[in-house]
Amino acid sequence: MVAARITVNGKETPLSPAAPHTTVLDLLRERGLTGTKEGCAEGECGACSVLVARPGVNKPTDWVAVNACLVPAAALDGQEIITSEGLATVGEPGTRPTLHPVQEEMAVRGGSQCGYCTPGFICSMASEYYRPDRCAHAEPGADAHADAEHGPNGFDLHSLSGNLCRCTGYRPIRDAAFAVGAPAEDDPLAQRREQSPPAPVATEYTQDGATFLRKDTLAETLQLLRERPDAVVVAGSTDYGVEVNIRSRRAECVVAIDRLPELRELRVASDHIEIGAAVTLTEIERRLDGDVPLLAELFPQFASRLIRNSGTLGGNLGTGSPIGDSPPVLLALEASLLLADADGEREVPLADYFTGYRQSVRRPGELIRAVRIPLPLSPVTAFHKIAKRRFDDISSVAIAFALDIEGGIVRKARIGLGGVAATPIRALSTEAALEGRAWTAETVEAAARVLRGEGTPMSDHRASSVYRSAMLGQSLLKLHAQTNEAVYS
Ligand code: FES
Ligand code: FES
Repeated sequence: MVAARITVNGKETPLSPAAPHTTVLDLLRERGLTGTKEGCAEGECGACSVLVARPGVNKPTDWVAVNACLVPAAALDGQEIITSEGLATVGEPGTRPTLHPVQEEMAVRGGSQCGYCTPGFICSMASEYYRPDRCAHAEPGADAHADAEHGPNGFDLHSLSGNLCRCTGYRPIRDAAFAVGAPAEDDPLAQRREQSPPAPVATEYTQDGATFLRKDTLAETLQLLRERPDAVVVAGSTDYGVEVNIRSRRAECVVAIDRLPELRELRVASDHIEIGAAVTLTEIERRLDGDVPLLAELFPQFASRLIRNSGTLGGNLGTGSPIGDSPPVLLALEASLLLADADGEREVPLADYFTGYRQSVRRPGELIRAVRIPLPLSPVTAFHKIAKRRFDDISSVAIAFALDIEGGIVRKARIGLGGVAATPIRALSTEAALEGRAWTAETVEAAARVLRGEGTPMSDHRASSVYRSAMLGQSLLKLHAQTNEAVYS
């Protein structure tokens, strides 16, 4: 087995002697690439953003921005990354480097003051700069697609939703983002998109008694998990990275599953959609392209683009958090999970999956292989996330609705709730209060009273139990107000 190494700005960088829990951020800084900064070490500020060459959605390779503070360096064994230092073109000794177009726009438009956040913004911006379908929206001189969050150049400001700046007030940063053009034809990173990214490599990286492992296939991984049921399984590491940095977790054995081909498929069949547990949230968003409206509504509210570039449905469900963003939506969609172990596979409805606080029916050695969403989809859907910030925040309460309303009658109602119990739950009493009844203000007001009583919401620093209950009822009234006109027209 070749010694673990990462190609950083075109240069091979061995991991040894870094410990297996060492993050990409710490590795870079230890090796002198101090442009990449640590702000929070928990995926919330984006100061550590770097670009990774990953399998693309519309081209062989996408340059994907990720939080280097969360990803173990060993997880990128054999992969290619670019840091803010690698974006500028360095000329002859003694000459000034030529700035990357994104760096140039940030500099001339005043997008950097203290500069601490700047390298992270630059990498997130560069990822969006190279998004292959960005410029498809950007006809010269046309701004038909422009709005407060999208520039006339097709730049999607959501790509910066995981980057925080405390100095500039954001307007100059937005100006820079909306000013970048299309990559030049001879731009090496644009050209790099036409070739495949590095293939995942089997990894066994051991230092000081701790090991990071990546197998080639699902079968090998399941066998390994049978032998090491104590192993920590990671995909995007958006949860594990926080544990390492903030809670000093040091696992003896970590197993990566994010590149297993069996977990990376997304298939649309006649009666269901199957989403591999290790397909990232960004990939799902782009590949489904609005075909599941409830998921399309969820994704922009799910953490930040940087987190969605690494996070997966398998991870969000695997942690079993009662305030994960995806479970309410998947409960409303009546999703089921395909759980695999070395003996085979079983299908479990998500409604039966959670058994207690961060507990589930998943057995030791078992993995979530895929999430299955039955078709056809209910036509009336909504996802309401109640949080203190619009983006990049944890919900106080989350409510997802999926309703079949025919001839003004609610034929079927599925409602998923997060943040009101020790597990995500279905609002079964409210569903019963709606089904078979006319979608009228009277029905909805009565059902909203029932919805306020669902779960056992608690009071904490995010919200009081009274507020959480009130938001549940309000959410149904809001849905009725939003759909009323459409249903009766
Ligand atoms: Fe803040 Fe990584 S250091 S997101
Ligand atoms: Fe100072 Fe952004 S320029 S934090």
